[in-house]
Amino acid sequence: MAVIDFERARTLSLTQWAIVFVLGFLLFKLVAELIDPGLNLAGVPGPWYARWTNIILKYQGILGNKAPYVESLHRKYGPVVRISPTEVDVSSVTGAKRIHNYRQPFEKSDVYTHFLAANGIANLFNAIDVEYHARHRRLLSASMSESSMKAMEGIVQTKAELAMKRMAEEMEKRGAADVLKWWLFFTTDVVGECTFGDSFRMLEQGRKNQYIDDLERTAFFGGIRQTFPIVDTINKVVTLPLFKEVHIRAVRMQTYAEESIRRYRNMMTADPSNPKITFFTRLFNAEDKTLTFPEIVSNAGAFIVAGSDTTAHTLTYLVWAVCRDDVIRKKLANEVAGLKEKYHEEDLKALPYLNCVIQESLRLYPAAPSGLPRKVPAGGVEIDGYWMPAGLTVSTQAYSMHRNTEIFPNPESFNPSRWEKTTKDMKDSSMPFGGGSRTCIGIHLAEMELRRGAAHFFRTFPRARVSTAEGFSDADMRQVIYFLMYPRGKRCLIHCE
Ligand code: HEM
Repeated sequence: MAVIDFERARTLSLTQWAIVFVLGFLLFKLVAELIDPGLNLAGVPGPWYARWTNIILKYQGILGNKAPYVESLHRKYGPVVRISPTEVDVSSVTGAKRIHNYRQPFEKSDVYTHFLAANGIANLFNAIDVEYHARHRRLLSASMSESSMKAMEGIVQTKAELAMKRMAEEMEKRGAADVLKWWLFFTTDVVGECTFGDSFRMLEQGRKNQYIDDLERTAFFGGIRQTFPIVDTINKVVTLPLFKEVHIRAVRMQTYAEESIRRYRNMMTADPSNPKITFFTRLFNAEDKTLTFPEIVSNAGAFIVAGSDTTAHTLTYLVWAVCRDDVIRKKLANEVAGLKEKYHEEDLKALPYLNCVIQESLRLYPAAPSGLPRKVPAGGVEIDGYWMPAGLTVSTQAYSMHRNTEIFPNPESFNPSRWEKTTKDMKDSSMPFGGGSRTCIGIHLAEMELRRGAAHFFRTFPRARVSTAEGFSDADMRQVIYFLMYPRGKRCLIHCE
């Protein structure tokens, strides 16, 4: 019989007590779920346990494997599958269209509140209220439109050139360049300058600064809190030391964003003709119908978080996938070699193969492949013949939408040529940037960075290959998926012959 060692129990540290508390709570929740199963979803297929508990889903979530796990359920049960007592995942085009509908958008589910900015003000990304979101979106859309991106082209070009120079230096010194690192510096410098009017100068420094370090950890813990909202609840009772540190980091980032935006606003007030345009310039110029200062700061923070890793990871997988296949690499390198010395965005948009490579990278390696959870509105709704009651969470995940074998034959193979004849189904099933009224607002900036980054890279390094230096292997590139996706090894070594 187990005997409780009270002497030992008294000596448990605060962290050990916290772990005991979390495990106890999980056990309690499991028992409660078994006594009271979730919503009655007549006929929605799924594993038997999904009606009773979400523990398997959470376990897969801890492993960074939720998206492939949900995809395995789709393969077994079809396009509509129950994944927990209160959540259904949908992978059909018709279902995704119903959920991400422009005219009657479903609200984002409450888990998005766990991404709240340190100043507690909701922003474009985490806003749940449809009206609040629509107001922010209306005010920010013009600055993020495709035509407004012309003002940012110079920034993207300068930073891409600097990124190439730094990668070439690293290849020379180290024998290979960690392209993940340099793409991250490239995208954070671009989004920083477009947002704050001043870049983080990461490419110049060549190493992460305090802001980026804070950003990475805060984004990671945002993902954990979104997957396990219980952590937030516990944290309100017992402040876990780790979360205290995360809070300090979030506040420090907030202060930095506030100071940068204030500095830019003062500059604008002193000289309204200041030509340095940012995503927020229009809002400072607007006399009415604008965002408040804290709302601008919260949105600026969201842009930095949402606009750095996402684009950097896409570029990383693009380069890696292209460098693994000589035929694809030569075809792309030849195409971009044909560009004139000074080329523009319009020239890049006209390159068919480059754009196929980008589409295929976004398909197979989407930076946000996980479920995008939404709430079924009052009155309920029918999706693909199944009745979904109000309050149920319905998700769509790009990971599954992009692996529909009827639309993308042989889905695990990286085959840019499949986009040479793009069908309507392929377009409808592609969701790397989300869907409907909550589609990524940074899509045009991201596409510009992807085109410019990839073109510059394969013009500069036409014979680039995946390196095996320092033990680098395919295992480093295994996808780890929380809300965002990143390569397990957090590095990608490429060399050029
Ligand atoms: C390849 C790069 C990118 C990918 C794959 C990507 C993906 C996504 C996805 C899937 C969503 C929808 C999230 C949801 O429904 O919960 C989203 C939303 C968003 N993204 Fe991006 N993103 C990228 C780049 C960017 C950039 C460069 C920025 C900023 C400059 C940005 C800012 C945002 C914002 C603010 C939202 C929320 C939009 C709204 O709800 O109205 N993203 N992104």
